Amino acid sequence: MVVLPVLGLVLSLAAAQFNKEVVVRRNYNMARISGVWCPIFMASNNMTRIEENGDLRILIQNINLLKNGSLKFNFFFMVQGECVAVAMVCEKTMNNGEFTIAYEGENKVLLLETDYRMYATFYMENIKNGTETHVLALYGRIPELDRSYLKRFINTCKNYGLDSQNIISLTNKAFCRRLCDVFPESG
Ligand SMILES: *[C@@H]1O[C@H](CO)[C@@H](O)[C@H](O)[C@H]1NC(C)=O
Ligand SMILES: *[C@@H]1O[C@H](CO)[C@@H](O)[C@H](O)[C@H]1NC(C)=O
Ligand SMILES: *[C@@H]1O[C@H](CO)[C@@H](O)[C@H](O)[C@H]1NC(C)=O
Repeated sequence: MVVLPVLGLVLSLAAAQFNKEVVVRRNYNMARISGVWCPIFMASNNMTRIEENGDLRILIQNINLLKNGSLKFNFFFMVQGECVAVAMVCEKTMNNGEFTIAYEGENKVLLLETDYRMYATFYMENIKNGTETHVLALYGRIPELDRSYLKRFINTCKNYGLDSQNIISLTNKAFCRRLCDVFPESG
């Protein structure tokens, strides 16, 4: 049986706590960002755009570093109640951890911090028809993270002027989390 060792691994990871010592905030090794990610929390200054059917409710499933340094994101979208898989390439910029993509306007995508192994926090700035919208997102290597990561994210949001009413949880939305569903959900 292969299932039991995997379950054991997930349970031991789930118990892992946020550790300041291993956080990377610059000079990223982008190759280590590749792989499966599970959406945990999302925040925005415009909730309409991240609520269900919102155009910025982008649930990344998988990231691949391309040879030319751009990042390929695979994600799922809700389109008329259906979960649709899409791939998008974010072009690298002069700045490490910073990418751009044209989608519903112009976007700057930043990797804010990560430990590669457990979590990654992304920031996106969207400019559509002159309106600037900010989105922050917390992703985990497993479907649920210890509360210490959530606290860290809430603090990060504060630094961007977003408080608890701007934050939504994505951990219990099994829909559109297909790759994550290979792992057992706790609770
Ligand atoms: C929030 O987004 C909605 C949908 O795009 C838009 O109609 C609305 O004007 C936005 N609100 C603000 C304050 O930008
Ligand atoms: C990098 O490669 C991808 C996939 O081949 C391509 O879509 C993208 O435009 C390339 N970016 C640059 C800056 O050449
Ligand atoms: C863009 O903004 C202008 C001025 O605020 C407005 O008249 C126009 O309808 C907007 N276009 C779209 C596609 O939202």
